[in-house]
Amino acid sequence: MPSAIWKNVCRLLCVSAAASVGVALPMLAQRAAQKPAAAPASAPATAPATLGLGTAWYPEQWPESRWETDLDLMQKAHIRWVRVGEFAWSRMEPSEGQYDFDWLEKAINEAGARGIYTVLGTPTAAPPAWLTQKYPETLRTNEDGRKAEHGNRQQFNWDNPKYRELARDIASRMAQRFGHNPYVIGWQIDNEYAAVSFDAQTKADFQQWLKGYYKTLDNLNARWTTAYWSQTYSNWNQIPIETVGGNGNPGLLLSWKRIVSDTWRNYQKNQLDVIRQYADPRQFITTNLMGWFDGFDHYTITQDLDLAAWDDYVGMGHLDAVRNGATDDLTRGFKRKNFWIMETQPGHVNWHTVNNDLDKGEVRAMAWHNIGHGADAIGYWQWRSALNGQEEYHGTLLGADGTPLPLYVEVQQLGHEMEKAAPALTGTSPKSQVAILHTYPSFWAINWQRHNKYYDPVEELLSYYGPLHAIAQSVDIVQPTAPLSQYKLVVAPGLNVLSDAAAKNLIAYVQQGGHLVLGQRAGMKDSDNALQTERQPGPLSDLLGGRVEAYYALEHPVPLEGDWGANTSQMWAERLQITKPGAEILERYGKSNGWLDGEPAAITRKVGKGRITYIGAWMDEAGMAKAAEWMTAISHIPPAFGPVPKGVEVNARYGADHTVFVLVNLSGVAQTIALPRHMRDVLRGEEASSVELTNYGVAVLSEPHK
Ligand code: GLA
Ligand code: GLA
Repeated sequence: MPSAIWKNVCRLLCVSAAASVGVALPMLAQRAAQKPAAAPASAPATAPATLGLGTAWYPEQWPESRWETDLDLMQKAHIRWVRVGEFAWSRMEPSEGQYDFDWLEKAINEAGARGIYTVLGTPTAAPPAWLTQKYPETLRTNEDGRKAEHGNRQQFNWDNPKYRELARDIASRMAQRFGHNPYVIGWQIDNEYAAVSFDAQTKADFQQWLKGYYKTLDNLNARWTTAYWSQTYSNWNQIPIETVGGNGNPGLLLSWKRIVSDTWRNYQKNQLDVIRQYADPRQFITTNLMGWFDGFDHYTITQDLDLAAWDDYVGMGHLDAVRNGATDDLTRGFKRKNFWIMETQPGHVNWHTVNNDLDKGEVRAMAWHNIGHGADAIGYWQWRSALNGQEEYHGTLLGADGTPLPLYVEVQQLGHEMEKAAPALTGTSPKSQVAILHTYPSFWAINWQRHNKYYDPVEELLSYYGPLHAIAQSVDIVQPTAPLSQYKLVVAPGLNVLSDAAAKNLIAYVQQGGHLVLGQRAGMKDSDNALQTERQPGPLSDLLGGRVEAYYALEHPVPLEGDWGANTSQMWAERLQITKPGAEILERYGKSNGWLDGEPAAITRKVGKGRITYIGAWMDEAGMAKAAEWMTAISHIPPAFGPVPKGVEVNARYGADHTVFVLVNLSGVAQTIALPRHMRDVLRGEEASSVELTNYGVAVLSEPHK
C-alpha cells in the first residue's frame, strides 16, 4: 500500500479517544468580534524568493520565552518560511466565542522580523473538545455507524452544516486578522483531507446529488444496470451508500466518489471564499495533499486553489526516484504549474513498519530531486517534537532538549544552497514533450475490480513512467481532458474509464498529429463505470484499427517477442486483433495458455501524421525499456539533457532565457558526468564541462538559451 495511504489508514484506526464532558458554553452569537492588528512598522514590502526552505512550527506548544531561540536556529538554517496554526484551534478559541490571536500574531511577527514568512493553516482538522461536545453532530460517523470521538484529529464531519459554519467562522476571523499581515504569504486550508462521514445527512445529500446528476430514476437505473440483483430503485431515498470492500454497484461506487470529491471541494470552498474575501490577493491558498492517496478526485478540489502542495513521506526504506518523481509530476499536473512540498520527513517518520532514517546526504538529495521536478518549497515536518502527543518519535530538526540534531547541519547546507540557486531557479518550471494520462475514476475502477489481486494501477503507471522519464528526462502527468497539443507523445496506462470528453480529446490529438499510446485495460468502461458495448479501447477502437479480443489475468508470466525483443507479460495479458488495414503488430505472445499463443500483444497504426498504439501486456522492465525507446524514437523526443549513468536522475526547469538542470546521484557510488555543453555550476559558482557527484551528490547547472 502506498505509504501515504497506509499512514492515513493507520492514523484513523490508531485512535485513542478521550471525550471530555461538562461545561456549559456561550452561544455562538456572543462571539466577540476580533479587532485586526496593525501591521508591524518594519515589514518589508515583498515576500521572499520563490524557492524556499521551511518547517512546520507549533509555537502554541511552547512558552513564548522559547520562540526567539527557535527562530534564531531557524534563521541559521536558512529557513525562510514556517507553517503555523493548522492544529491550534483550542488555542485560538479556548472556549466558544473567546478568541485569542495575539500569541499567533506575535509568533508571525517575530518570525517575520528574522525574514521568516508564514503559511497559516486553518485549524479545522482538529476541532476543540468544547466544540464537538456542544455540537456532537459535527463528529464524523464511520461506515460501521460508530461515531468518532475527541482525542485524535480528523474527527469532524466534512458534510455537516454546523461544522461548516464553525469552520468558516474561525477561518474568517483568521483572515480578518492576518489577511493583510505582510509576513503571511499564504494559507493552507485544513490538513490532509481524508476521513469522510456516513451519517444520515450525508446519505440524504448523496441521494440529492444523484438526483441532480441523473435527473430521473429511470436514467439512474439504466446506467447502473440495477435490474441486476433486483437493485432497481423506485424512490431516491432507497439508495444506500454501499461501499464496503469496494463491493457496491460499480456505478454507485463511482458516484459516491464523485460526491465525496465535490463535498471536499465545497468543504474547502467554504473556507477559501472567506479567506479570499479578507486576505490580500498576494496571499496564496493551498492545501496539503498526499501523493497517490485516492480518497477523492484531486483534479476536482485543486481547481479552486492557487497552488498544489503535497506531503512527501518515504516512510520505510529510501527515496525511490521513479515513484517519488512521478508523485511530484502528478502534483504538478493538478494545476499544471510548480508546486510545494509542504511537508517532508526530517530523516524518519513514526508511522511505518520500520521507521528507518534516510541516509546521511539523502534528505538533501531528496529535496533537490523534488526541486528538479518543480517543487518551489521544501518544508520539514516538524521543527521540534511536542513533548507529548501522538508523534513523539517522528523525525525533527531539534531534539527534545531544544538543540540541533545531526540532520540540522545537512538541512542548513540545503537552505544555504537553495538561497544560492534561487536566482537561477526563480521563474523556471519543468516542461515536457511527453505526457502520461491519469484519472481517478480509472484508478478507482481498477482497484474495485482488480481481477488480479496484484494489479496496482499506480504500479502500472510507474511501469511506463520510469523508462519514459529515464529517456526524456521529464514527463508531465495530466488528465486526458487537458490541452495535449504541446506533447509529441501521450501515454495512457490503465485509462480504464474513458469519458466521452476524454475520448474526443484523444481522437483530436491523434488526428492533429500526436502519438497516443494506450496501456492495458484502456477504454473498457464508460463514465458510469459500466462496460462499453464496443470492445476495448471502446470509442478509440476505430482509430486504432484494432481491438481487445479477450483479457486474461495471469498466474505466471507469459513470454513475448517482437520489435521490442523477448520479454514477458506479468499479471495481465490482452489478446489483440487487427480490424483495419494499416495496423501493425509490434509484439506477440509466446506459448502459454493456448488462448494467447502467437496472438498480438501490442499493435500500432499510423493515422495521417499521427499514430495510435495499444499495448495489451504488462511488460517486464526490459520490455518496457525497449517499448519506451521505440515510443520516444518514433515520436522524435530528445532527452532534455543527454546521457547520464544509470541511477543519476536529471530534471530540467525552463525559464524565459535559460534552462536549469538538476542532477542527483542516487546510484550508490560516485559518478563523473561529462556535460553535453559548457554550463554554469550554480552551487559551486563556476563554469563546468563535467561534474563529480558523490553518492547522493547534487549539481545544479544553468545554461542560457541561444
Ligand atoms: C454464484 C452465484 C451467481 C454468481 C456466481 C459467480 O454461483 O450464485 O449469481 O455470482 O457465483 O461465480
Ligand atoms: C502528515 C501530517 C502531519 C504529521 C505528519 C507525520 O503529513 O500532515 O501533521 O502528522 O504526517 O508524518
